[in-house]
Formats: sequence, C-alpha cells, structure tokens
Amino acid sequence: MDLSQRGQWMPASPIRRLTPLADAAKARGTQVYHLNIGQPDIPTPPEMLDAIRNFQSQVLAYGPSAGLPETRAAMAGYLQGLGWSVAARDVLVTEGGSEAILFAMIAICDPGDEIVVFEPFYTNYSGFACMCGVTLKAVETRVEDGYHLPAREVIEAVIGPRTRAILYSSPGNPTGTVFTPAEVRLLVDLAVQHDLFVIGDEAYREFAYDGLTATGVLGVAAQADALDRAILIDSISKRFSACGARIGFLVTRNEAVLDAALRFGQARLCPPTLEQYAAIAGYGLIQKYVPPMVDEYRRRRDTVMAGLRRIPGAVCAVPEGAFYVQPRLPVGDADAFAQYLLNEFALDGRTVMVAPGNGFYATPGKGKEEIRIAYVLKEDDLLVAMDLLVHAVDVWNARRPA
Ligand SMILES: Cc1ncc(COP(=O)(O)O)c(C=O)c1O
Repeated sequence: MDLSQRGQWMPASPIRRLTPLADAAKARGTQVYHLNIGQPDIPTPPEMLDAIRNFQSQVLAYGPSAGLPETRAAMAGYLQGLGWSVAARDVLVTEGGSEAILFAMIAICDPGDEIVVFEPFYTNYSGFACMCGVTLKAVETRVEDGYHLPAREVIEAVIGPRTRAILYSSPGNPTGTVFTPAEVRLLVDLAVQHDLFVIGDEAYREFAYDGLTATGVLGVAAQADALDRAILIDSISKRFSACGARIGFLVTRNEAVLDAALRFGQARLCPPTLEQYAAIAGYGLIQKYVPPMVDEYRRRRDTVMAGLRRIPGAVCAVPEGAFYVQPRLPVGDADAFAQYLLNEFALDGRTVMVAPGNGFYATPGKGKEEIRIAYVLKEDDLLVAMDLLVHAVDVWNARRPA
C-alpha cells in the first residue's frame, strides 16, 4: 500500500537524521559530544520543577484549548513588559513554539500557497510546510554578510500571487543573526505592500550578545500600523531551558487568525497542563534566571569561535544571538564529513556530532559545505569538542582526494 505524497516527501530532521550513526559510535564505546541539537544543558529553574511537584489536583484533567487563563495572562504580562500592547486574549498556548508555527501556517495558507523564508532557516519550517502543503520560497542570505537580509528587491523577487506570509527567526537558528530594527521594519513594510502576514519566530528573544537587543515583530508592526499582519511565535523551551515542557505561544492581534488557530487547537484538545504551571513560575523568574544564562552562552559562543578560527579556510560570521553558528568549512561535502565524524573518526575514544548544513536550506545543493553547531555544552566540554572538530577537519582533508 502506498503512502501519501506528504508522507513520502516529509523530510527527516537533519538534526536527528544521523542519530543512528551516533548510537552506533556509542555502542562501539566512543564518547560523542553533541553539537547537533539545540538541547541546552543548563538546569531548568528549580521553581519551575517545584510548580510541577506541587500540583495538587486529584485529576490531571483537560484544560482549555487556548491554555489556562493564568498562563495566557503570564505571557501577556511578560510581553507587555517589553512595551507591547498584548492582552491575555491575544495569546494562544501551544505545544511548543513548533505547534505555534504549524497553527500559524495552517491558519493562513491553503495547499499550494507560498511562504517566504530566508536560507539558511530553522529546518522544521520545511516539515511544517510539508504538512500544510505549503511551498517555501527561499531567499538566500550569505555567511559573508553575517546572514543579514539582502536588498528589498531580492526579497520582492520571490513574492508572487500565492505568497501568504514572510516567516523568519531572529535571533536566528541556525545563523545566530539578530535582525536590525531596519530589517524587521523592511519585512513588515513588505508585508503591508504585498498584503502578507509576517511571522516573527522569537524563541531566542533574550539570547542577544554584545549589547544587541532583538527587535520584536509586534513592536515594529504597531509602529507601522500593521498589527493585524503580525504573528509572533514564542516558546519557553530555550528561555527557561525547558524544551521537554512543550509549551509555546502564538500571539496575534488578528482575531480571525487567532480564532482559526484556536479551532485547530480544539482538535488537539489542550496544551500540557502541568508544564503550564511550570511556565507561569518561569515568567516570574526572568530577571533572576535569564541574564546569567545568556552570559554563559556568550562565553560559549566565544569558545566555539576561537575553535573555528583555528580551521584554515573556515568562513564564519560571529553569531549575534541564539546559540548556533553555521560556518562554511573546507571539507567539500559537509554531510559526508558529519557522517565520517560518527562512522570513522575518534581521537582518544571521542568524537563530535554536528548537523549537516544542507538541511537548513530549501534549495537543493545549497549549504553543502556548511555545518550547524549548537553550543549547548559546558565550556570544558566545548573546548574538547572544538579540538576534536579542528583535528577531524585535518584528518579528513588529508585523506580525501585533492
Ligand atoms: C527558531 C526556532 N523556532 C521554534 C523552535 C521550536 O521550539 P519548541 O517547539 O521547543 O518551542 C525552535 C527549536 O529549536 C527553534 O530553534
């Protein structure tokens, strides 16, 4: 019996695709340093875990499809604190930012519609687009430009009659790029001019380094009198090192979009209840918890950059935010190199796992020489992992035909 086309087309996650190879390496006794997945090692705030432990009800019941009123209020309060006019009714609690992306896409797109993205982009946008029958129209950004946006005309060139939205992440995964206020304004202006939605994925909002601040889509859309076009994707996964909680948010002042997203939400009944209490506790801790964590990631970024600078021929933009870097390495085929790291390479019984960069592109053939590194390990481990990577590039290049 045949699968559906979507079942056949659905791409495997490039972040997880090589996991069987990593498992095999571990079974051979090799220690694998995971730089492939954005799973932070920083402890979740104990107060959030306590909120789960202290849950009192006798029944773990279904909650409201839009999320518990207290969770929506906590999220709205947090966004108000950033200066944006958001009420609890504008917030839909979702199963991670992932579901918020899916609901946003499916609420505004029909099969065959198009969404503009910037390559390289968060790889799961491809998966959600596949689920929704949406085509991603990719605009290239280049490592040499720090993965910042190209000129307005370049973006406009991919906008067509089926385009429904512009979707971007800033601070960006996998680029680490923080779009400037002018860049976010450009995207909002394009949305206005071409009658589109603009979906800002701000899962890494606080992760901005060197004095930068991420510019929020809601603030810019308000200035441009375009709030009805703006959809914010948010998540507690990274902010509170709580990826397994599966709590995210879709926020919009567009009532029709929110209503459609809610109806999709009713089909999955409700987001997780216990973890919403953890999220509420988390939003009371931002000032205490987040700045030291962001400092820690900044130090890790510097460690990774120091390692990458030791690889002759590597081209890399210094990440301005999030906790990823997408360098171009002089390895020819980075996918084959990533597999080699797990299949063959080991130094003192250790190797490193990275995500091949091509999975962050929609255009076939692009990102072939790139890898994505998630700097989510403690600094001591990162130092070892970067030593391994530097050494592996040498060995790989010595072996491969010129
Ligand atoms: C840019 C971006 N958006 C959304 C997500 C989804 O996160 P979650 O579903 O854990 O909230 C991620 C996860 O890595 C991400 O990097």
